[in-house]
Amino acid sequence: MADIMNKVGRILISQQEIHEAIKKAGAAISAEYDGKPLLLVSILKGAFVFLADLCREITVPCEVDFITARSYYGGTSSSGSVEIVSGLERDISGYHVIIAEDIIDTGRTLSLIAEKIRGMSPLSLKIVTLLDKPERRETDLNADLSLFTIPDLFVIGYGLDMDERYRNLPYIAEYKGDTL
Ligand code: IMP
Ligand code: MG
Repeated sequence: MADIMNKVGRILISQQEIHEAIKKAGAAISAEYDGKPLLLVSILKGAFVFLADLCREITVPCEVDFITARSYYGGTSSSGSVEIVSGLERDISGYHVIIAEDIIDTGRTLSLIAEKIRGMSPLSLKIVTLLDKPERRETDLNADLSLFTIPDLFVIGYGLDMDERYRNLPYIAEYKGDTL
């Protein structure tokens, strides 16, 4: 236990800061989608914590769904394809869809998934991300709403993992690995 926690670096975004930002995002979404059929979608696993908190700050009716995706990348960073392994079997053509993402890094996975979802003809599609690492972007994908912009660091917590660990930390911290 102690060994695991030794690798947790400084806290970049506190639980309180996350909570405040999600409250604001929830209020903005509630105002914009009032009276519209709304479907929140997140891509497992990283965004499950964000989606759970975000949907509870939304005061208008909404539905939630999850996608599991598998990515295949070729040798070049700009090419690749993504297969939606499960989720969204339903017809989404009657919904305004918001993708809730944990972090946009290169943007490759999400731009491919957004393209797939757009192909399913939702009434509209927007992307909300908890974290944005714009320095690392390799695509022209941008979120419609980004709660925090962070520098090029590997972060953990609040759903984000390092080898499947640390998702349960209630804050966003830098991962410091094995440095002494
Ligand atoms: P992208 O296709 O490069 O934008 O990949 C984004 C995915 O990579 C996210 O959904 C995360 O699962 C993972 N990822 C990117 N940066 C980090 C990080 O700093 N910590 C943990 N996971 C990350
Ligand atoms: Mg991950």
